[in-house]
Amino acid sequence: MKIDVLTIFPEYFDSIFEFGIIRRAKLAEIVEINVHDIREFATDKHKMVDDRPFGGGDGMVLKPEPLFAAIEHLTGASDRKDYREDLRVVLLTPQGRQFNQQAAADFAAEAEHMVLICGRYEGVDERVSERLVTDELSIGDYVLSGGEPAASVVVDAMVRLLPGALGSETSAENDSFSDGLLDCPQYTRPAEFRGMKVPEVLLNGHHAEIDKWRRKMAFEKTKKVREDLLMGENGERE
Ligand code: ADE
Repeated sequence: MKIDVLTIFPEYFDSIFEFGIIRRAKLAEIVEINVHDIREFATDKHKMVDDRPFGGGDGMVLKPEPLFAAIEHLTGASDRKDYREDLRVVLLTPQGRQFNQQAAADFAAEAEHMVLICGRYEGVDERVSERLVTDELSIGDYVLSGGEPAASVVVDAMVRLLPGALGSETSAENDSFSDGLLDCPQYTRPAEFRGMKVPEVLLNGHHAEIDKWRRKMAFEKTKKVREDLLMGENGERE
């Protein structure tokens, strides 16, 4: 997969993709990540990337021209109806649909090329969404100063699902959310620490019992802190 990130703060990403699974996936050429400064695509002599909102109001709005030029440069198209089927142009914004594990899995499976546009909290000219953006995503119901942290979250969640990115192919299947539940508790050595004992079942090597215990604990944890995950779309318990 190829990922292009468009931002007015490229330095934000200097080290964020240089650790752990993402770094390994880059080295193994499972993913290529390029970060671009939106300012490089500014069309006027002052390299302006934002301007005051029509109609008045606080803050600045990202201008359309640099973003249209950037998308045209990166994808060869400046209208989403001309995009390749495996291209997704994502705008990170609190106004987007909620990003979750299913969305990460869908992008990892369907997209070969992703362009992530980091918005500013004041906004992005709506014509960018109208003509260029295939998906508006929010990472949660809170307002960040910009889309940069959100873009790094989306990249991380997606890249670890690309084939070969994790050491063991089964690890992602056992993640929280992949079966609709949170993950069960995990323990490592020592078996007793400051009077706290690791549950006996995990020490006896009986795999069927361990699986049963883990499923039970995952369900109980989910019920306690995220009962919404156990509800169907009509609000009924599944
Ligand atoms: N930009 C600002 N807040 C955001 C959020 N919650 N999700 C994605 N992008 C954002």
